[in-house]
Amino acid sequence: MTRPPFAILFVCLGNICRSPLAEGAFRHVAAEAGLGQRFHLDSAGIGGWHAGAPPDRRAIRVAAIRGFDISGLRARQVIPADFDCFDLILAMDRDNLADLHGLAPAGTRAEVALYRERAEGVARPVPDPYYGTLQDFEAVCRMVEQGSHSLLASMQSLINSP
Ligand code: 4NP
Repeated sequence: MTRPPFAILFVCLGNICRSPLAEGAFRHVAAEAGLGQRFHLDSAGIGGWHAGAPPDRRAIRVAAIRGFDISGLRARQVIPADFDCFDLILAMDRDNLADLHGLAPAGTRAEVALYRERAEGVARPVPDPYYGTLQDFEAVCRMVEQGSHSLLASMQSLINSP
């Protein structure tokens, strides 16, 4: 019997810059490793202002340059049911993390953590590039590609089990 996919939700403020890049990068890295079927992946925002919108065009562009397509993603807001549906919920920065802790229903089974800390042991944020330049988006893209490799490597026991 194979285990159900491990479910990871990537969370930022607006769900149009960092978390879609983190979702897309992890999907790409997992697929390249032949492990795409092992994961259920999604992203969401603390705020709902951009709900239904595609990622920021700069995020779509830097992802495409790095070989993955996030243009089909659509923003949505975090909902309480996410804490039941996902095994791991990863916040891009400390404000997102604090907001997630505030939203988490009592007794939630989901692990809620800071993305870079969980992935790489680096207790630092993925900086918000929304008011920045294309170079800031490129830096975020590199960061989440590196984070994806580290996160996948940290899940070896999960991956190696049947
Ligand atoms: P994200 O970036 O949280 O990485 O998606 C932002 C997107 C939109 C806004 C802020 C941050 N906003 O204020 O609309």
